[in-house]
Amino acid sequence: MTRPLAPADFELLREYLRRTAGLEFDEGRRAGLASIIDERLTASGQPDVGRYIERLAHPDGGVERQRLLDAVTIQETHFHRARPQIEALRRQILPDVLTRAANQGREVVVWSAGCSTGEEPFTLAMLMLEVAHRMSNPPKMRVVGTDVSTAALQVAGAATYSGRTIDLAEPDAVDRWLVREADGTYTVKDEVRRLVEFAHHNLVTDPPPFALRSVDLVVCRHVSIYFSRDTTRSLVSRFRDVLAPSGWLLMGPAESLWQVSDAFSLEAVGEAFAYRSAGDFSRARPPAKPGQTSPPPPRRAPVAAVKAPPPAPRPVAPARLSPIEAAQAAFDTGAYAQAAELAAAVLLVDPVSSAAYLLLGHSLLNQGDNGGAVEPLQRAVFLDPLAGHAHFLLAVALSAVGRSKQAAPAYRAAATTLPGVPPETVRRMLDGRRLQELVQLCRRLADEADGGADPIRRGA
Ligand SMILES: C[S@@+](CC[C@H](N)C(=O)[O-])C[C@H]1O[C@@H](n2cnc3c(N)ncnc32)[C@H](O)[C@@H]1O
Repeated sequence: MTRPLAPADFELLREYLRRTAGLEFDEGRRAGLASIIDERLTASGQPDVGRYIERLAHPDGGVERQRLLDAVTIQETHFHRARPQIEALRRQILPDVLTRAANQGREVVVWSAGCSTGEEPFTLAMLMLEVAHRMSNPPKMRVVGTDVSTAALQVAGAATYSGRTIDLAEPDAVDRWLVREADGTYTVKDEVRRLVEFAHHNLVTDPPPFALRSVDLVVCRHVSIYFSRDTTRSLVSRFRDVLAPSGWLLMGPAESLWQVSDAFSLEAVGEAFAYRSAGDFSRARPPAKPGQTSPPPPRRAPVAAVKAPPPAPRPVAPARLSPIEAAQAAFDTGAYAQAAELAAAVLLVDPVSSAAYLLLGHSLLNQGDNGGAVEPLQRAVFLDPLAGHAHFLLAVALSAVGRSKQAAPAYRAAATTLPGVPPETVRRMLDGRRLQELVQLCRRLADEADGGADPIRRGA
């Protein structure tokens, strides 16, 4: 049986992991940490957490320090993860990066920071080869995958995969870039491997492994979700330092730089969002390929300016109303189809308007299109994570389409953020109730949604 973690020991370990790797452990991860520590105490022969931490701090403690990091980090990854981002890379980000480097006669450098077992940098290399094959004069290319886990890097170095990661890969890419071995595993082809190198690197304690302004694209996905906001803030500022002018930063679909950094502009790239190093806005746009649907020209919007009213897309309303106000006015009169249309028109011009995504989602929800409302509401909360009313509507939409597992955290986020939303904004949702009642309702619905998703908690 796992030894329980005493509160003081839990605190010691939390502080140690925060300081040495930026990793945050809340109450929800306490039991998991207890089981890892129990195992590490036994394996290292240390009698208690205090002595174990002393051992880790000792100059000879390097091996155990690494074993602990290997055990506490979460290495979940797979090829072609987050399809909208993969399409954004394929259609716009990588063509932009490769074209600029080719025009300047230099090598392209891509950093996959927190690359886990290697699928992300290999996916990037496959996409870069795809883009390069369509160019008459492609640049030299280099992808550097770094991670703090040596166990993950070992798998990456072997470049042999099987199971779920292959099932989730694009089938065409599997055929083209991987070789099926006699034992049923798949090995990445040399053509791809040649572009990729791996290195051990701690994003929190080590300086970036690149010179200033030398990287074209940083991909750091599903890593900062384990960090505090302050740790993410200093990490992102280091990314900013190594990024070339107009370089790209791709975080995970749920990792927003809202209130973290305004050194980047946010761009909607197809169905994904990406950040761009602000300051130098000059760049070459790749020529559209015959038969290729050219993505709409991206629009720069400083993250801090996301809430600014967008410029007029077309004269849809009396001149005194801005387009977003016109959409709101239509919504307020119950003309939900028109409100959705007006909000969609705003988004054509300002694809990072959280208010427009919210109105679009709310209008669709009110028309009974629960499934259609999910994506705009997800975007609204991505762009403005403190929009409690958007979290609430997203939770409602997710519940309505039976996605209770995702609805639970959305209800919880609503309960946390609703008290900070101006009362006028949530008035429509309150329906005569007090705000505190709505917050309590969200908590209850979160528990119910959790129960609905987990048969064990229902006693099944
Ligand atoms: C969930 S995986 C994400 C892998 C990949 N980026 C993806 O999105 O599929 C998170 C990775 O971040 C790494 N990581 C966590 N803390 C780190 C740190 N301080 N420095 C470097 N890597 C870290 C973990 O070891 C793990 O491999």
